[in-house]
Amino acid sequence: MYLFKKVSDLQHHLHQLRAGGRKIGFAPTMGALHQGHLSLIRRAAAENDCTVCSIFVNPTQFNDAADLEKYPRTAANDIHLLTSKGNNVLFMPPVEEVYPPDLDTKISFSFGPLAAVMEGAHRPGHFEGMAQVVKRLLDIVQPDGLYMGQKDFQQLAIVRSMLKQLGSGIDLVMCPIIREEDGLAMSSRNVRLDPALRPQAALLSQTLQKTKALQDQQSPAEISAAALNTLTRPGFRPEYFEIVDGRSLQRLHRFEETDFAVACTAVWVGEVRLIDNLILKGPG
Ligand code: PAJ
Repeated sequence: MYLFKKVSDLQHHLHQLRAGGRKIGFAPTMGALHQGHLSLIRRAAAENDCTVCSIFVNPTQFNDAADLEKYPRTAANDIHLLTSKGNNVLFMPPVEEVYPPDLDTKISFSFGPLAAVMEGAHRPGHFEGMAQVVKRLLDIVQPDGLYMGQKDFQQLAIVRSMLKQLGSGIDLVMCPIIREEDGLAMSSRNVRLDPALRPQAALLSQTLQKTKALQDQQSPAEISAAALNTLTRPGFRPEYFEIVDGRSLQRLHRFEETDFAVACTAVWVGEVRLIDNLILKGPG
């Protein structure tokens, strides 16, 4: 595996690959890698000639300074995992390579209602920072395919909108959520969960599953209210539980309104904020 820290070195390497007609698949991450991340790399490897994984804890997308400071950093283990999984190129830039002082990396996309709900409403500035770094990384890597997880469903919708606004031909591939045995969605933040609360964290995915079973009997509003109730318990503080249209991300009043319904939730479990979602009905 090649490991690059400088943009110019990475670009030199990728230029040669592209000149040889190689297809490049790219999975951006913030490290502390788990099986969810590795599933993106595996998919990228299956569909491309070369996989690039980036590890960069992007300061501009953290609206909470304590969250940035506490974000797990496990570089040595990440490098080991990627090497053993056959990843081709790892890009691990320092901040000044991603945001050089003399380069204007600001973005001016308009995400409208997509970014106004759920994560956008609860984490002001998060999506602007996320889109800024994804745009910068795409400019650097210039991949054919971009591999991202359904785990961050709204993030994916925003990146899809950004690619559309750019008129980009990059193929955005949504990869399914990889879960622990008890259903907890894998996340770099899970290692920070209070061990006493960890067994109960499966309640998020269990509540989402229950939603799926109830969709023929109750309205989205009724289901959401009951779910918020279930998720409110000692040590737990839900921020939202919403049933939305999978394209517009706006709240559904009736399930019949759409062929693509997704339940999305964010819950504080002790000191850790977890997100999860479930596609209740998908477009064919
Ligand atoms: P990070 O949280 O490290 O996630 C990197 C990618 O892995 C994202 O596309 C995310 O959706 C995916 N992922 C995380 N957990 C997953 C799981 N359990 N199953 C499947 N995929 C999973 O998302 C980010 O980093 C950043 O916002 C980033 C896009 C890198 C920009 O900084």
